[in-house]
Amino acid sequence: EVLVLPTPAEVARRAAEVVVDGLVGAGRPEPVLGLATGSSPLGLYAELANAVAAGRLDLTHARGFALDEYVGLTPGHPQSYREVLLREVCAPLGLPPERLHVPDGSGVDEAALVAGAAAYERLLEGAGGVDVQILGIGANGHLGFNEPGSALSSRTRVKRLSDRTRADNARFFDGTEEVPTHCVTQGLGTVLDARRLLLVASGVAKAEAVAAALEGPLSASCPASVLQWHADAVAVLDEDAARLL
Ligand code: GLP
Repeated sequence: EVLVLPTPAEVARRAAEVVVDGLVGAGRPEPVLGLATGSSPLGLYAELANAVAAGRLDLTHARGFALDEYVGLTPGHPQSYREVLLREVCAPLGLPPERLHVPDGSGVDEAALVAGAAAYERLLEGAGGVDVQILGIGANGHLGFNEPGSALSSRTRVKRLSDRTRADNARFFDGTEEVPTHCVTQGLGTVLDARRLLLVASGVAKAEAVAAALEGPLSASCPASVLQWHADAVAVLDEDAARLL
């Protein structure tokens, strides 16, 4: 389902309705929300905070699972995705911090990172899977940190970040050199296991990636094209992001 709305503010409001419907509709005592970072979902998180304040959503017993994390940032680094989600989701939405799960990017070597990635998959499975997975899209079509070329059935694993992604994310750091070179990310197969996928995108910079994802071939060269493979995927776009559809 593709919904095109005039402004990013309306995208945020409509996307929040999709999340509330999905979590409440799941009818589970401990529903699971899949969390994305980046700027795209920030308006959505603010709308969800309004829904919590209005009593339409209660995340006290929910769990949040992040898509990805950088490797090698010092614990508590303000740009680590754990810290970002504690700030943007846990505090304003009342999701208890101990109910936030983020892939572990602190492993000292590859074996530790690989073990952490496998443990994350088990934790996700033990929680009963994701009810609603919020997704942004990279300008190169990446999903989470699944860069072009990622296997369509991949699971949580260590990945190298592309130069494009490191440059795109340099705005959150003191320059590109400071952006980590590696990450731990849910795989595309992991993302596809969620019961509902919700893509949010705004702005012309995303138009090409959105068009490739939603109307191009299902292909590892545009990882977000896996949305076409999912039975319950919703894309909520503003007119700029949808202009090449
Ligand atoms: C980041 C994140 C993705 C996010 C994407 C787009 O690198 N790992 O999960 O969707 O890039 O970011 P933004 O929403 O800031 O454009």
